[in-house]
Amino acid sequence: MLSYKHGFHAGNYADVVKHAVLGECLRYMKQKPKPLVYIDTHAGCGGYRLRSDEARKTGEAEKGILKLLRAEAMPPVLSTYVAQVQALQNRPGAEDYYPGSPKLAADLLGPEDRLLLFEAHSAEAPRLRQRFARDARVRVAQSDGFAGLLANLPPPERRGVILIDPSYEVKSDYSTVISSLQKAHRRFAQGVFLLWYPVVERRRIKAMEAALQGSGIRRILQLELAVRPDGIKAGMTAAGLFVVNPPYTLRESMEPVLAYLSGCLAESAAAGFTCRELVGE
Ligand SMILES: C[S@@+](CC[C@H](N)C(=O)[O-])C[C@H]1O[C@@H](n2cnc3c(N)ncnc32)[C@H](O)[C@@H]1O
Repeated sequence: MLSYKHGFHAGNYADVVKHAVLGECLRYMKQKPKPLVYIDTHAGCGGYRLRSDEARKTGEAEKGILKLLRAEAMPPVLSTYVAQVQALQNRPGAEDYYPGSPKLAADLLGPEDRLLLFEAHSAEAPRLRQRFARDARVRVAQSDGFAGLLANLPPPERRGVILIDPSYEVKSDYSTVISSLQKAHRRFAQGVFLLWYPVVERRRIKAMEAALQGSGIRRILQLELAVRPDGIKAGMTAAGLFVVNPPYTLRESMEPVLAYLSGCLAESAAAGFTCRELVGE
């Protein structure tokens, strides 16, 4: 049974990085007026409250999006994402609303696009389905996102952004994400894949990097924000994304964002970031 609930973590520094990158990729893809599909293999419930009991219990949003909402003068990609969140909060009763990845994506996509959202949790999936009940572009499936992804590739649109964002509650996820990405890439080599990871044990991320470097997949960017030094039992000290087929502008636009965040959201003097090509052309 799944026990992870994203409401405890929504708007934390990991969400900030993930959602800023996702937004940038979708905006880049939408420069071409052609339909695309967005696939979220681990979608969550789609929207959160930053002042809920769950959020207050961890206080993670306080060290993430809530800090940014009070900050000024930030790099363009970040201010675009913060403005998107702010606009959603500018509605009566929504002052502490935080959008999940499906909502951020839905608002950036057009009427010609499709969204496929997978969420396995028996309480989160119905909430997600209800949230998008009136959006004909969206299909919600309460099922395993890894299997769902493969069953839907290649998409008829031949253009797509795929977010693979498990909670890593099940330790096998560290290897499943890599094998799923490999299989998905074989079916849809031109897709833009965003694979999120938490750094709880650095050795697991090193193993993922090595596996990706040996996978035969080309063009992989690694973007990571570290807020504290790694350590055993130190919790999640950093979080990042592997981006396959990144927009050509992504590295250049994310470097100042990560540099800014490593100052603004630092939780120790050891905060820092990685913005590198893990695998080249
Ligand atoms: C990190 S959260 C997703 C957050 C969301 N993508 C966002 O950025 O707003 C991971 C979600 O994956 C769900 N989940 C876990 N295993 C799953 C699986 N095999 N297939 C689909 N969803 C799964 C969990 O219930 C949880 O809601």
